[in-house]
Amino acid sequence: MKKRVFSGIQPSGIVHIGNYLGAIRNWVDMLDKYDCIFCVVDLHAMTVPYEPKEMPNCIRETLMVNMAAGLDPERCTLFVQSHVPQHTELTWILNTCAPFGDLARMTQFKEKSRQHRENVNCGLFTYPILMAADILLYKSEVVPVGEDQTQHLEFAREICRNFNARFGETFPEPQPKYTRVRRLMGVGGKAKMSKSLNNYIPLLAEPEEFFSLLRTAATDPARVRRSDPGTPEKCNIHTMHLGFSSQEDIAWCEEGCRTAGIGCVDCKKRLAGNMDHSLAPVRERYKKYADQPDYVEDVMREGARQCTEWAEKTMQEVREVTGLR
Ligand code: AMP
Ligand code: TRP
Repeated sequence: MKKRVFSGIQPSGIVHIGNYLGAIRNWVDMLDKYDCIFCVVDLHAMTVPYEPKEMPNCIRETLMVNMAAGLDPERCTLFVQSHVPQHTELTWILNTCAPFGDLARMTQFKEKSRQHRENVNCGLFTYPILMAADILLYKSEVVPVGEDQTQHLEFAREICRNFNARFGETFPEPQPKYTRVRRLMGVGGKAKMSKSLNNYIPLLAEPEEFFSLLRTAATDPARVRRSDPGTPEKCNIHTMHLGFSSQEDIAWCEEGCRTAGIGCVDCKKRLAGNMDHSLAPVRERYKKYADQPDYVEDVMREGARQCTEWAEKTMQEVREVTGLR
């Protein structure tokens, strides 16, 4: 039997190349080797301010971009979190196995509560418990995520151990899985690429947008002048080359940077071309899905049906072992 994989993405409306290189590309590579479930986590997205009227559109958009990026609905299960109410039911039960002290140490909570001082709600605080429920509900064994989710995943593992110790072996302990690019920095070079910091390159950028976004992007700060040699490993543009360029181009960029044989602009131009080239099929598929809203609805409905069946099976077992019957 194939191992169960679960991962989620928030319906923020924009999918960027950080999501793609850090997570989605990994998901696509896992489609045939694992039994994969991918989820648009709308309940998680409610923990920060949002416009309710725009939410349905953001959910569909996020789903379509992921399908366009290669999550073929024929080879995995795609669904929307709130369509399967068992997620919230299990969250409550896991609340009782989640150590308060560890939650208070979550860096994402600290960051987000700083970003949204006007709305530091309890959902933002218990966010990682809902994430643990997402994973455990399907007895998932492998969770492909970017490095920013490491702490949340460690917490989910702890909840899993606590539950099993208290109620008997019920859930397998989920393991993280990372890509070569675990954490992509934003164009400013100082913080991770993220929608909320507005330092991102959209996955669906138009061909001419790639270079215009890269043109002013941070590089190795040692390369002040064209003649100053640099260290590719210290440059975010190099990290992007690792994601989008051929071995030959990566070698060209590394050698040229170390010897000052090429300038940063040359390096960025080559990268922009490679990004455009590798993402052209994603843009094409996106257009195809955008023209088939009924198909996208069908995918969502079938995903919800299938996941509800799996989730209910787990919940029956959970209700049994916890004495809720
Ligand atoms: P989110 O959009 O926050 O729901 O993230 C979806 C997935 O993308 C998660 O697995 C994240 O860890 C991953 N991710 C988000 N931003 C980055 C980044 N800048 N670098 C690498 N992975 C990322
Ligand atoms: N918290 C993840 C993020 O912000 C999204 C997420 C929700 C997730 N539930 C999950 C990821 C379960 C992996 C498994 O990126």
